[in-house]
Amino acid sequence: MATNRTFTMLKPDAVEKGHIGAILEKISASGFRIVAMKLTQMTKADAQTFYAIHNERPFFADLVEYMTRGPIVAAILEKENAVEDFRTLIGATNPADAAEGTIRKMFADSISENAVHGSDSDENAAIEGAFHFSGRDMF
Ligand code: TYD
Repeated sequence: MATNRTFTMLKPDAVEKGHIGAILEKISASGFRIVAMKLTQMTKADAQTFYAIHNERPFFADLVEYMTRGPIVAAILEKENAVEDFRTLIGATNPADAAEGTIRKMFADSISENAVHGSDSDENAAIEGAFHFSGRDMF
């Protein structure tokens, strides 16, 4: 059964460029309710665990370096059909391929620094949300 929650991170490039407010505005305007949210910084071990599925890929070391170089905004979002609708809102992994009006098209510069994360399944949304938040942080 589909759940109505997804997990997101505004990645270090988006935070560095001062895009937190604009991206959260777009997320809210698209009908997502914030269930949990914090500014935090991932350790190398955190990023290696979070992206373990990619640990054999050539971009893995750069991905870990990038995701740990500064703070991120981690959040759990709620909306009907949250996972799929949020993936549509953020756009393709490579901003060059992302549709007009998507967050990656508007705020990302490259496939390796693409501004925002969105869970790709209900199962991963639950795992990723629990990675960053305990039940008492969810509202
Ligand atoms: P992936 O899970 O394929 O994409 P998405 O974030 O859209 O679910 O990849 C995870 C992250 O790894 C991606 O957001 C950016 C990085 N990445 C690269 O740096 N180079 C690549 O070629 C790919 C596929 C991903």
